[in-house]
Formats: sequence, structure tokens, C-alpha cells
Amino acid sequence: MNLMGGTVIMPSLRCTKCGHEFSLDDARLIVPRCPRCGEVLEIIGEEPVWRPRGSGLARYSSMLVIKPVMYRGEGGTQLVVEEYRGLRLWFKLEYTNPSGSFKDRGSALALSHASMLGVSCVVEDSSGNAGLAVARTARISGMEALIVVPRDAPEGKKRAIRLLGAGLVEAETRAAAASLASKLAREKNCYYVYHLGNPFFIQGLETIAYEVYEQEGVPDAVIAPFGSGGLFLGIARGFEKLRSLGLARKQPVMIAVQGVEVHPLYDAVHGSVVASGSSQLADGIRVPDPPLLSQGARVVKESRGRVILVNDEEITRALQGLVDRGFIVEPTSASALAALDKIIDELRENGVRDVLLPLTGSGLKVLDELVKLLGA
Ligand SMILES: Cc1ncc(COP(=O)(O)O)c(C=O)c1O
Ligand SMILES: [Zn+2]
Repeated sequence: MNLMGGTVIMPSLRCTKCGHEFSLDDARLIVPRCPRCGEVLEIIGEEPVWRPRGSGLARYSSMLVIKPVMYRGEGGTQLVVEEYRGLRLWFKLEYTNPSGSFKDRGSALALSHASMLGVSCVVEDSSGNAGLAVARTARISGMEALIVVPRDAPEGKKRAIRLLGAGLVEAETRAAAASLASKLAREKNCYYVYHLGNPFFIQGLETIAYEVYEQEGVPDAVIAPFGSGGLFLGIARGFEKLRSLGLARKQPVMIAVQGVEVHPLYDAVHGSVVASGSSQLADGIRVPDPPLLSQGARVVKESRGRVILVNDEEITRALQGLVDRGFIVEPTSASALAALDKIIDELRENGVRDVLLPLTGSGLKVLDELVKLLGA
């Protein structure tokens, strides 16, 4: 009860499967999944307030359930608006975040949760950008970090993780890396970042929508790559919260992008297909069994969006187009422009004019690959 006699709603976490609720500071949440059934948790009882102050990620503290405490320089990325074949494209330069991807935003919030739980070490499994972001956030926070990577992860990213002082553990496969990470977290009493389904990580990504809203308003459509779905859901929830506060009057149509080889969201929304071709280039969206699949499918359907599949040739063409514009991004990031190119006539016919395209990861981390691909 508050002093006026009203009930104060405290934000908490609820299991998306068994419905049990947990307080944000429950010590068992060093593995931020349901302690009873292992499913993903969602934040409930939020009371966001629109009071932007300061700069970067912390500018939106009043919209977040926990105040970011582990951050330095995340967010505040530029929005470049350009005419593109009859549309206005809003390129959000997320690759200019401090470790070269949007994952810095999620990492800042997840490690702030770790700090709330009083732990001083974190474990993460990732072959790339998330591992690097977590290693960096841990470094600036004085936390120890252990990153479990599949043996075939890119050498450049492994070196960068070591450079940031994190311990690197190699596992045979991505799946083996995930189970080893949660085991290590429990054994060592470390926080498991679990970016594939950590509700705080995803909440950090909402700040992309808040920035865009202040920079240009609400777009007609968002086209974003969907791997674990954190980026896609974070942006959608950010705009939804702005609408629930009466600030935004519309919701963008949410269009997700997956590769022709691995496309669980496409299957969940449109029904199973066997698509031909290869999509090896989009390694950031090769997630066969994302824990947030049903949430992603719901957002696509409710926003009257869709899922677009792209292949390596389409990604390479889009990548070249982005480099020509001066945006040096990694192939996964270019999948969004590749998808736009496939549906642009239809979007125009449906009256879509403003399209947000997050450019998610820096190409400078995979420069050798870019040079090989684009024949420079
Ligand atoms: C560069 C890049 N873009 C997009 C994505 C997809 O993001 P999410 O896993 O949040 O769906 C990733 C994920 O690793 C990524 O590294
Ligand atoms: Zn549960």
C-alpha cells in the first residue's frame, strides 16, 4: 500500500508457460528462466513513465523496470532518413554501438539485473555479437565474464572477446555451448545472460524504439532480422508501450526476416515451407528453435506483418547497396534491406511510406569475409 492507501503494483516476472510469478530480485534468477519449468519469463506489472533525461540508453530509465547501472556509451545511435525507390527509409545505425552491435543495449540491462542479484560474474553462450557485448559490459563493470563459443565461431570475434578480458570456453556446437553455459553458471554461481530469452536483455532493446520515436516519430513499417527475436520483439514492445501511454497514435507493421535455410518464424506464421537456396551468410538469424517463437509470431500477426525469407545472393546484393551508401555492416544486417527489395512494390501500393530498418552489426568485425564476398 502507498501513503494514499492505493495498491502499489510492483513489476515482477511471470512464466509464459506455468504462470508462476517471481520477484525481480529472486536469487534463483541467476538463470533467468522459470525456476519451476525452465520456460521464458515475461515482465508484468510495468508502469512506464515517459520522462526522457540525459543521453544514450539511460535516457529511458523511466520506461524500464530496472534502472540501468552497467552502461557506458550504449544507444544514442543516429537515424539516417533517405528517399529509396519511392519510400523514406529510416536507417538506424545500431552497428555504431560501442562493441559494434545493438546487443550492447541488451547486455547493459541484463548485467544491471545481475548486479541487482549481487553476483559478480556472468556466463554467456554466443558465437559473436552477444558474446562480445557481454564481455565488454562485464569489463566496464568489473565483473568476470566467461563466454562459451562453438569451436567454429569466427576467429576475429574470439580474439575480441579475449581482448576484453573474458574467459573463452569452446564447445563442439551451438547447442552444446548453451547447455554448458547454464551448467557453468549454476556451478560457479554466475549470472547466465541467456540473451535468447532474458526479459531484461530484450527490454534493453526497447530503447531503440524510444530513440526512433524522438528522432522521427513512429514509422509505418519495421523490417528487422529475426534470430532469437529479441531485436524484433524489443522494437515492437517499445512502440507498443509508447502507444499505451498515448504518445504514439499508431503501431508499425512488423516485418521479420529469416534465411531460406532456417526459418522457424516463417513456418509458425505462414505454415511450413521448404525453401530452396542457401542462407549461410546470415549467421545471426540461424536460430532453429528460438524460445520466443510464439511471442514473435503473435507480434507479426497482430501488426498485420509477415515474414520474408532471403537467400545469400539477395543478401550479398543488399550488402553491396549498403556499402555503397557508406554503411559497412555484416551480412545478417543486410538481410533487412534484401527483404525490403523483395516487397517494395507491394508496400508502396499499400500506402507504406516510412520504413525503419535497423542496421544491426558492424562489418568491420568480419572485414575479411566482406572483402571476399564483394570482391573488393
Ligand atoms: C548482426 C545481427 N543482426 C541481427 C541479429 C538477430 O537478432 P535477434 O537474435 O535479437 O533476433 C543478430 C543476432 O545475433 C545479429 O548478430
Ligand atoms: Zn514455469
